Amino acid sequence: MSRSYHITTYGCQMNEHDTERIAGLLEADGLVAAADEESADVVVLNTCCIRENADNKLYAKLGDLKVRKTENPGVQIAVAGCLAQKDRDTIRDRAGHVDVVFGTHNVHRAAELLGESRTNGPIVEVLEAAARDDAEAFPSALPPRSDAGYAAWLTIQVGCDNSCAYCIVPAVRGPELSRPLDDLVLDVAQMAGEGVTEVTLLGQNVNSYGRDLTLARRRQGEDVRVRPLFADLLRQVGGVEGIKRVRYVSPHPKDFRPETIAAMAETPAVCEHLHLPVQSGSDRVLAAMHRGYTAERYLEKLAAARSEIDDLAVTTDIIVGFPGETDDDFAATLELAAVAEFDAAFTYIYSERPGTEAAELTDLIEHAVSVERFEKLRAVLARSGARKHAERVGRIEEVVVEGVSKRNAERLTGRTRQNKVVHFDRVSSARVPSLRVGSYASIRVTESKGHYLMGEVVEVLAMPKHKVRIPVVAV
Ligand code: SAH
Ligand code: SF4
Ligand code: F3S
Repeated sequence: MSRSYHITTYGCQMNEHDTERIAGLLEADGLVAAADEESADVVVLNTCCIRENADNKLYAKLGDLKVRKTENPGVQIAVAGCLAQKDRDTIRDRAGHVDVVFGTHNVHRAAELLGESRTNGPIVEVLEAAARDDAEAFPSALPPRSDAGYAAWLTIQVGCDNSCAYCIVPAVRGPELSRPLDDLVLDVAQMAGEGVTEVTLLGQNVNSYGRDLTLARRRQGEDVRVRPLFADLLRQVGGVEGIKRVRYVSPHPKDFRPETIAAMAETPAVCEHLHLPVQSGSDRVLAAMHRGYTAERYLEKLAAARSEIDDLAVTTDIIVGFPGETDDDFAATLELAAVAEFDAAFTYIYSERPGTEAAELTDLIEHAVSVERFEKLRAVLARSGARKHAERVGRIEEVVVEGVSKRNAERLTGRTRQNKVVHFDRVSSARVPSLRVGSYASIRVTESKGHYLMGEVVEVLAMPKHKVRIPVVAV
């Protein structure tokens, strides 16, 4: 019987995408997906280290797995991802029962490493970012295994050249490296041919996409101008036949340019959603974070995007409790949050990451103060979020079906172009074909429930190319 695997993913879309690749490699090696972690012969934890609680979660999880391993020594445990990259040696010191540790630049070796460790014992393989081989850097160059069928991620750039004082990502993912534009467009065309209609372009700093490629050509003696290529990429990916939706994460406000706004406005497939992480509303804190913009500049860019792109939803990331953040600094963040009228936001309490510049700062904010600020900020953000959701009631929205609602099997869950979740009754009749994952429908929004919307089907717009089993989604 084939050995089975289970992968748990922590962290961002980069990791989720890497997980798809690891799954693809393991399946190519003859393993099959296990129903759950308890029954898997190979347990992979694809980790994140962006905040401290991510570390804590992993070590707690490894503690649980120790019992499994003692009961059944044949089970293999692998730790991958950003925490593996960062803590290569400590993981086996703290959890000696781990069989394989591999870093973010070793994803392509996942299956081999698991195989080798079965005969040779534990392996730690973590390549330094500087030593990575460009061809292996991109998850897209490895076999994918995607459940969704209609939606795909595409890594356009790995690494990050910024040096935000709080952030560990550049240390674990290395410098920026872009994939050539033509390769990406070819990939999208191939995916579209296989039934993909929605593509999400991934990078830590997508607006600087291609800068490294142009600089490399200049070093070779070519007389090329360094100009933003991301706008070209949006237009070209959006122009691929069959692609109905293009999304991207994350743009950096300092590199977010008029060309990108124009490409978004002029490319019908690019969704009316912008995730533009602001981090703070205080210029002093933004400078200490090395973000490269002021609150005013951020708001100007936002206003420009909103004036050119009809019906644009805007989301953001905000950190509270950065070292030295005063009451006045925090008040500026509250004010920015109120003025910017975000549709939604990810909010975080600052978490010290050893090795980052901010970890050297000493004027730390007391945890209770950060928590209080966090709650206040959440309340302001909830107000604009609820308002933005309520504004959708009565509208007809294009929705793509993502699955069946967990609480009500008669109900489907989908997503609007603005990235809002909508629940609606499953309808089928002789006239209306039954909707499947990847189907597009017009939905009339009937109610706003704060975090999600309720609606009813007006008409079916398109059915997916291939049949995808409707999975139950958590809501
Ligand atoms: N490259 C992306 C962000 C990746 S990390 C960008 O710059 O937009 C996702 C979010 O995690 C960040 O936007 C930030 O809000 C948060 N974050 C990163 N490091 C953090 C830290 N040390 N403490 C708290 N939040 C952090
Ligand atoms: Fe981290 Fe800043 Fe790079 Fe984003 S842009 S990954 S926050 S260093
Ligand atoms: Fe976490 Fe690594 Fe992403 S640290 S947020 S999984 S790039």
